[in-house]
Amino acid sequence: MTAAEPVFSVQNLWKVFGPKADRVPAHKEYADLPADELRARTGCTAAVRDVSFDVRKGEVFVVMGLSGSGKSTLVRCLTRLVEPTSGTVVIDGEDVLSMDRTRLRELRRHRASMVFQHFGLLPHRSVLDNVAYGLEIQGMGRSERRARAAEVVEKVGLAGMGERRPGQLSGGQQQRVGLARALAVDPEVLLFDEPFSALDPLIRRDMQEEVIRLHREEGRTMVFITHDLSEALRLGDRIALMRDGRIVQLGTPEEIVGAPADDYVRDFVRDVPREQVMTVRTAMRTRRRRARDRDRRVRLPRRHRLGRHRDRRPHR
Ligand SMILES: Nc1ncnc2c1ncn2[C@@H]1O[C@H](COP(=O)(O)OP(=O)(O)OP(=O)(O)O)[C@@H](O)[C@H]1O
Ligand SMILES: [Mg+2]
Repeated sequence: MTAAEPVFSVQNLWKVFGPKADRVPAHKEYADLPADELRARTGCTAAVRDVSFDVRKGEVFVVMGLSGSGKSTLVRCLTRLVEPTSGTVVIDGEDVLSMDRTRLRELRRHRASMVFQHFGLLPHRSVLDNVAYGLEIQGMGRSERRARAAEVVEKVGLAGMGERRPGQLSGGQQQRVGLARALAVDPEVLLFDEPFSALDPLIRRDMQEEVIRLHREEGRTMVFITHDLSEALRLGDRIALMRDGRIVQLGTPEEIVGAPADDYVRDFVRDVPREQVMTVRTAMRTRRRRARDRDRRVRLPRRHRLGRHRDRRPHR
C-alpha cells in the first residue's frame, strides 16, 4: 500500500434508526429533512447522514461534534458494531459491508481495535489479564500473551501494576489499561470513542500526551472521537466536524479555526485564538516529522526492530 491510499474509505454512509429505516436514504424528501421533522414524519432518527471521508494511513483523524451529532454511531459503523443502512465502508481496499462473520471478527480483533469511554474492563481479572484478553481470544498461549501484555502495560506507564484489579486503579490508570488492551493486539487502526471524557482535566491532559507520544513513536493510524474542541485541536491531523449526522466541515485544525465553513463551526471555534492553534500545531507537526524522519534513518533489519514490528510475527 502506498502512503496515499487510505486505511478507511467511507462513501455516502447512512445510519438510520427506526421503522423501515432503509427507505430514508434513498428518499429525496426525507433525506433533507431536519432531524425533528424526520422523526415526526417517519419515526426514524438519521444518526449518520450521507457521510464521506477517508482516513489516511498514519494520521490522527478526529471526529468532533456535540452530543447526539452521530459520532459514536459513525465510528461503530466502521467495524459494523452498528450495521450501516446504506453507503460503503472500505478498509485497505476491502469492502467491510460484504465481510462474512469470520472476516468481521478478524477485522475487530486484529485490524481495528476500540478504546471506549467507560473502559469496559473485566473487574475480576488482573490488569495483565485484561490486557491479554484480546490475545486470548485470538488463541495465543498463556505465557506468550502475558509476556506481550506485560510489555504493553509498561508502554502505557503501568509498570508494576499488572497484578492489580481494575477496582484498585484510578480512572486515568483504568483508561491506560483500556488503551493497553487495544494496543496489545497490534491493530492497524485504533478507534477511540471519547476515551477521556470521564477523566478529570489534568489526567485527561496526561492521557492526551500519552496518545500523542504513542502516535509519535509508532505512527499508528487513529480515529479519535471527542466533543471537546481543545482535545480535537491538540490531537487531530484532520478534524471532521459533525452536526445532526452530517459532516459540516473536514479539514486541518488550522482550516477549521482559520476558515470555519459556516456559523455552526464558527460558533464552535469562536473562543480559540487562531494564532495559538497555528503555533501549537506547527511545533507539534515538526516534532512528529522529526521523529518519523529519525525512525526512517535508522532502519534496522526486521528482526532487530523493536516494538510492534517484532511483536507482529508470533500471532499473525
Ligand atoms: N440504538 C439506537 N436507536 C435509536 N436511536 C439511536 C440509537 N443509537 C443512537 N441513536 C440516536 O442517534 C443519534 C446519534 O447518536 P450517537 O450516539 O451517535 O451520538 P454521539 O455524537 O456519539 O453523542 P454523545 O456525544 O452523547 O456520545 C442520537 O440522536 C441518538 O439518540
Ligand atoms: Mg457518543
